[in-house]
Amino acid sequence: MVVHPPPNAVLRERAPAKVNLTLRVLGRRADGYHDLSSLVAFAGVGDRLALLPGTELALALEGPGAPALAGEGDNLVLRAARALAARVPGLVTGRFTLAKRLPVAAGLGGGSADAAAALRLLARANGLETDDDRLFEAALATGSDVPACLYGRSCRMGGRGEAITPLALPRFGAVLVNPRVAVATVDVFRALALAPGTRCGEAAPAPEAASRSGLLAWLRTELNDLEPPARALAPVLGAVERALEATSGARLVRMSGSGATMFALYDDCRAAAAAARIVAAAHPGWWVKSTVLG
Ligand code: C5P
Repeated sequence: MVVHPPPNAVLRERAPAKVNLTLRVLGRRADGYHDLSSLVAFAGVGDRLALLPGTELALALEGPGAPALAGEGDNLVLRAARALAARVPGLVTGRFTLAKRLPVAAGLGGGSADAAAALRLLARANGLETDDDRLFEAALATGSDVPACLYGRSCRMGGRGEAITPLALPRFGAVLVNPRVAVATVDVFRALALAPGTRCGEAAPAPEAASRSGLLAWLRTELNDLEPPARALAPVLGAVERALEATSGARLVRMSGSGATMFALYDDCRAAAAAARIVAAAHPGWWVKSTVLG
């Protein structure tokens, strides 16, 4: 049964940060996008989005990340709403308020998470089922990471982002560090310099994900293929990696997405919190968060 919210009710959704535990580039497609194979997890930290349903689509920004978005022409929240409105006749939209906490252009899928949260809010406001194909289509039309963010739980991501296979992962404590250097995804992919039609790899078989040690062993054999080009664009990544690797209990240090956020995994949240305190104290200019992942 579809339940509509009462009129004037503000609806709220979390927009959790996405972390690519691995990211392999398998080739470049004829349409210019890259085929990927990525293991995606979601963090306990993220943005927050609220919607007051109504007839006029609008977006207000607040939170520490709001100034970084103020000059932006077209936020992904609005693009997602328009993409859904184009597919659902008579869609009720309304006034969104985005509390921006995640760094932008950071490889954490913040904008994609916001777009996915907007689609979930619009689904609730309009009584759409969560598995309505039009939500997925609007997600992919908004951006390659939006389908995974719409799913919102750990998964394997394939294609350019549209092939989502659920995969339950054990939970880790994690530290996310962004050196406050914005890196544009398009620049990182461009630096790979793959000609359209190039194939360069096959997806590895699914990991042994049931136990933490099994997953870690698999992750250590995997990479983020976007790290080398991102490091060329943001050399500070070397310092971020060294700072995380020096923390007690760090099991794995990698970059997420197209960077420049790096993450380290720990056995539990207490170890992650202790590590985050040390990194933040030594690098007050960096964005440092301890969180749960999985
Ligand atoms: O899909 P989205 O707009 O988020 O992608 C931003 C840019 O990143 C694309 O224009 C493309 O250059 C690159 N990209 C890619 N292959 C992907 C995802 C993104 O080449 N799978």
